[in-house]
Amino acid sequence: MTLTAIAGSANVPLATSVAHELGVELCGRKVQRFADGELHVEIEQSVRGHDVYVIEPTSQPVDEHMMELLFLADACRRAGAARLTAVVPYFGYARQDRRTSGREAVGAGVIASLIETAGFSRIVVVDLHAPEIEGFFRIPLEHLSATRLLAEAVRTTSDSVIVAPDLGAVKLAERYQAFLHLPVVVLHKTRITGSDVLLRSIIGDVKDRAPIIVDDMITTGGTIEAAVKGLLEAGCKPDVSVLATHAIFVGPALERLQALPIQQLIGTNSVEPRELPAHFQVVNLAPVIAETIGRLNRDQSLAPLLAHA
Ligand code: R5P
Repeated sequence: MTLTAIAGSANVPLATSVAHELGVELCGRKVQRFADGELHVEIEQSVRGHDVYVIEPTSQPVDEHMMELLFLADACRRAGAARLTAVVPYFGYARQDRRTSGREAVGAGVIASLIETAGFSRIVVVDLHAPEIEGFFRIPLEHLSATRLLAEAVRTTSDSVIVAPDLGAVKLAERYQAFLHLPVVVLHKTRITGSDVLLRSIIGDVKDRAPIIVDDMITTGGTIEAAVKGLLEAGCKPDVSVLATHAIFVGPALERLQALPIQQLIGTNSVEPRELPAHFQVVNLAPVIAETIGRLNRDQSLAPLLAHA
């Protein structure tokens, strides 16, 4: 089936790089806003009978990019696309995977329903905040991971230790452990506000160790700031590395990260970089996304690429 890749506006450089890896041009499309703010999208080439991949991380502004993803799907479906796959390198709303207090919305569930309703028959994501989100979808979800790429990029020493900055990151830390063969330390963190967290305790030995903090995303940098400060107080070496798939970097993130003694700060281009800390090292996701799209197009196994592999 003819493969067509289309990009929303959230991360055109990544989508272009994916298309380049695949040896195709991105499909022409218009993404405009009417004077009243309404979104309007139009596909500029025929996609009738095609296997279409819409590449759009739902990064900031989250709702605008989400709507683009949905509208692009609708336009392709109405234009006769045979198969539609959402490629969402960063899945916004993933942290709203359950109710933590009384009368909250479960945002990730709402988004999953919208993605299905728009006409997608499959979704590809990278390092979901909560892998359980797969259960919100009735369509297949392919969960890729940047863990191997980030593990290959980090420099380790004999006294390195992997640090899960909260209990939710333990599984991710174990995935890194499979590549790095280092001990895992776990931090007990409590979120106080949207941007501030409190480190309660450290489970494991960090004295004179070089910590490699691993997380799915850095948003305001509160988690990393609390982790680095707590680890230093506990006597770790001032040789701190941070690996995080999604470099969201909002609010005080840059200021916080720049003020910390972080030797290696490595993430991916799942989100289009805006302002980045000077020492931020980017790992390119395009090859792994392109490989995934190519395999899906050829109906080949994705086993070597998936997060649980
Ligand atoms: C939370 O459970 C996530 O895995 C990240 O630790 C968190 O979203 C990072 O946010 P921030 O940088 O604002 O602390």
